[in-house]
Amino acid sequence: MIRRIGVLTGGGDAPGLNSALRAVVKTAILRYGWTVVGFEDGYEGAILGRGRELGLDDVRGLLVRGGTILGASNRADPFWFQHPELGDTEPRDHSATLLATLERFAVDALVVIGGEGSLTIAHRLSQLGLAVVGVPKTIDNDVRGTAWTIGFDTAVTTATEALDRLHTTAESHHRVMLVELMGRDAGWIALHAGVAGGADVILMPELPFTLERIVAVVERRRARSRHFTIVAVAEGARPAGGEAVFERTGPLPYHRKYGGISVMLQQQLTPLVPSEVRAVVLGHLQRGGTPTPADRTLATALGSAAVDALARGERGVMVAVRSHPTGRATWGIVQIPLAEVARGPRLVPLDHPLVEAARALGISFGQADEE
Ligand code: F6P
Repeated sequence: MIRRIGVLTGGGDAPGLNSALRAVVKTAILRYGWTVVGFEDGYEGAILGRGRELGLDDVRGLLVRGGTILGASNRADPFWFQHPELGDTEPRDHSATLLATLERFAVDALVVIGGEGSLTIAHRLSQLGLAVVGVPKTIDNDVRGTAWTIGFDTAVTTATEALDRLHTTAESHHRVMLVELMGRDAGWIALHAGVAGGADVILMPELPFTLERIVAVVERRRARSRHFTIVAVAEGARPAGGEAVFERTGPLPYHRKYGGISVMLQQQLTPLVPSEVRAVVLGHLQRGGTPTPADRTLATALGSAAVDALARGERGVMVAVRSHPTGRATWGIVQIPLAEVARGPRLVPLDHPLVEAARALGISFGQADEE
């Protein structure tokens, strides 16, 4: 019997998190008469006891607000956590501390709004007996079992607008423009923004590229009097037989920060093509700002469905979108086991319809065997 639930936003922030929080709080209070406790900064607040009750007044006006009123953290893993307040000198397993904190707050169940990392942790907590339901968010759209994640549409919108703007200046100056977009393991943002923004080349982690092919595209376009080329490159893209580029690395997963592929490509391409080559890194602009209507509605539907799932007695699951909500026949929310999400990121399938369409339109993926 649930009377009180906790909620947290784990991992990197994404536009639509606040819309999801609003949906969780309103559904819990208005439909079920439960109380809701929000924990700050992802799992960190749930370990250290930084939680506060969230009422209807706390979520007023949140639908349109980017970021998360609770704060987020992509470093707080309860199974490998270190904090001076806990007297730690090195990271250790604090999952029991987290469970004790939730008990202290009299929380019967937890809603985790997070990406692959936070939801994998949710799975492990569920194996320890915690009643938990996950909600998928990440601009990367790489959570297994759901077609769409909260934040992706806004990030694609921002990235597409950037590509549109770069088109006009690239054309004026006859330049090759490399636009580095987020996406560590999966090229969803690069693919969608690349197609929507009319990129000539899309480079994704799923399809290691060759420099020669990018040079060939630039030359082919010049032969057709197109003296500029737009390349959309995911931060996790890598050359065939080579490695991805990191801004920094370290012993823990969150120490690894992708970044630098566009600058590396700029240096490598410059001596090989007659045009000037410039790199633009879009970075956290993709994570900030007001969520699009699609993200607001997705977050509302998923946040509300998570509370309904708990009320039905579902545990250890994530609410997921079956396919794109383009019409009544294709709109559906399902529950999938968190164990499935924990199997790793969802990559772009190479036979994805958008990959096929891009190829048909002559967009290059930097593959040696194209044409
Ligand atoms: O997972 C979301 C994401 O934005 C990735 O695309 C990116 O690599 C990472 O987070 C950046 O994290 P941080 O803000 O900690 O640098």
